[in-house]
Amino acid sequence: MDALECIKTRMSIRKFKPDPVPKDVLREIITIAKWSPSYKNSQPWESLILSGAKKEALTKMLLELLKKDAKPSPDVPAPQSWPTAEAARIDRLLKRRAEAVGSDLYDLEALKEAKKANFGFYGAPHAIYLFQDATLTPWSLFDLGLFAQTIMLAAHAKGLGTVPQAFNTDYAREVKKFLSIPETKRLIISISIGYADMESPENAFRSERAETDDIVKWIE
Ligand SMILES: Cc1cc2nc3c(=O)[nH]c(=O)nc-3n(C[C@H](O)[C@H](O)[C@H](O)COP(=O)(O)O)c2cc1C
Repeated sequence: MDALECIKTRMSIRKFKPDPVPKDVLREIITIAKWSPSYKNSQPWESLILSGAKKEALTKMLLELLKKDAKPSPDVPAPQSWPTAEAARIDRLLKRRAEAVGSDLYDLEALKEAKKANFGFYGAPHAIYLFQDATLTPWSLFDLGLFAQTIMLAAHAKGLGTVPQAFNTDYAREVKKFLSIPETKRLIISISIGYADMESPENAFRSERAETDDIVKWIE
């Protein structure tokens, strides 16, 4: 697969096969992703790859927190409002997903079910948690985003599926404690990774993008 094809065909996978990915493949993906650019080559990213019984135990813990309506403690707070253009795109995504997979995230019960599916890592055998020192500035968050995208592209090039999940960092304080990530770190995102179940209806959904002319201005 060439780079352009890889970028265009990557998509978020929301149903995985349980088969584990060989450790050397996961390691190679991180080894490739570390070539992402970063501010002054600071490489402000750290990762932890979670599998097996410990991953199952984390799912159990997250589900229990959700069940008792525990107060989320994300290190990167969820936005409370959006500018008009972005809000319209989110609205369109949620409506299209509700139609396609019957999960209306504006409905609180459906949102809870969606969180449960997230906390189960959509059935993926592995989750990559990304974090960085909490004193780093927004530039380093930008860099970590580049690292995350490179992980997802490298995985896709190797025939694997991924999905980035902010939901799985909602209970950052508890997750960090559970995974022995120091409190001095900022938990940013988890990326579920594994073999995509492309027969599943969840993976039949493809998100859209704004028109190119809406996101570029030419000045000559
Ligand atoms: C920072 C970030 C957080 C996200 N969090 C979640 C999440 O918690 N659960 C989920 O199912 N998808 C999550 N996504 C996936 C987005 O919904 C998805 O990238 C977007 O709809 C575009 O679709 P695509 O990835 O298939 O191209 C997240 C994506 C990003 C970049």
